[in-house]
Amino acid sequence: MGIPLDQLRADTPGVERVTHFNNAGSALPPDVVVETTIRHLRLEAEIGGYEAAAATEQELGSVYGSLAQLLGARTDQIALIENATRAWDMAVYGFPFRRGDRVLTARSEYASNAIALFQLRERHGIEVVLIDDDPHGQISLDHLATELERGAAMVALTHTPTNSGLLNPAAAVGELCREHGAFYVLDACQSMGQVPIDVNRIGCDVLSATGRKYLRGPRGTGFLYVSDHAIETLEPPFLDLHSAEWTSPDSFSIRAGARRFETWEANHASRLGLGAAVDYCLAVGVEPIQQRIGLLAERMRGALGDLDGVAVRDKGELTTGIVTFTHSNVDSPEIIAALRAHDINVSLSPVEFAQWDLPHRGVPALVRASVHCYNTETEVDRLIEVVEATT
Ligand SMILES: Cc1ncc(COP(=O)(O)O)c(C=O)c1O
Repeated sequence: MGIPLDQLRADTPGVERVTHFNNAGSALPPDVVVETTIRHLRLEAEIGGYEAAAATEQELGSVYGSLAQLLGARTDQIALIENATRAWDMAVYGFPFRRGDRVLTARSEYASNAIALFQLRERHGIEVVLIDDDPHGQISLDHLATELERGAAMVALTHTPTNSGLLNPAAAVGELCREHGAFYVLDACQSMGQVPIDVNRIGCDVLSATGRKYLRGPRGTGFLYVSDHAIETLEPPFLDLHSAEWTSPDSFSIRAGARRFETWEANHASRLGLGAAVDYCLAVGVEPIQQRIGLLAERMRGALGDLDGVAVRDKGELTTGIVTFTHSNVDSPEIIAALRAHDINVSLSPVEFAQWDLPHRGVPALVRASVHCYNTETEVDRLIEVVEATT
């Protein structure tokens, strides 16, 4: 890793208080993220919010550069948005749907995206088509190709679902979308920061992600990558005086580039914190982060699998730092409470988060323990001991 483990932990004060395996919820930020955010809040208090924005214009501008570097994109292809859901919404609600258009999506799709697609189905008369899983539990490329042959306006895919360690084959899906001319929307909320992502290699038209999870940024931050093709295709569902210009008493024109999806008012302190998080992630290196997360997650899955009554529920040929499991006799909330009593943070993935997936697999609510590169083998072993003692 670009930054060694003891330094990573020294940079992360939260590790002194808790054993944090809720990185898929919101990770512990490194000091630099907290300091950068607070410094800007202080500056706003000292000299005024607009004046603080002007004084840090260059730093605010460089957040786009950091994200562009992370994604292999250009700075004018990045929009800063308050979370991943709104970033995704700005693209999908901005798509020129026509009655009868088909949207292909997978069992791993995020709950908010599915709900939005249902609303768009009622609003525009589109059809939402669920693509099967392949034998590994990831999106079936064969079924996807068959449905693309029948015609589809859009493919919406979640790279890593909220409730499984699975990593969907995003680049293979991109190739099929290009072949069939379907607009490709990738939700990279859980993979961003733990999996190397190059938007050109994946070939997505838009990509949404959040700041607070594997990137370790502040809450209330997110972003959208918008390809040149997507800029031509989409119209932002909302405009304001930042995303558009009031050009005469009776006219307006939409701003160039991805920032047409932004709003004028924003949390500048958090945006700067996000920039610090991305720079920190780049300094550690996404590939070494992925490798270390992989080692810790496999250790956890292996040890959990050896416990009586525990079933590891992760799917996929390639996996990430999200580890999910259940116990045959003890309910997931009870396991979570026992871990919490030992200052070990994990979370619950209930059926309401994954209606296309958990009922299909006949699986109840899951315990989700999501590891990050700053976690240690000893922390993993402690979680295993508590789960063993509880079950
Ligand atoms: C796969 C996935 N997509 C989207 C989101 C939504 O992100 P946000 O809460 O930033 O809108 C989440 C959050 O857990 C997620 O897991």
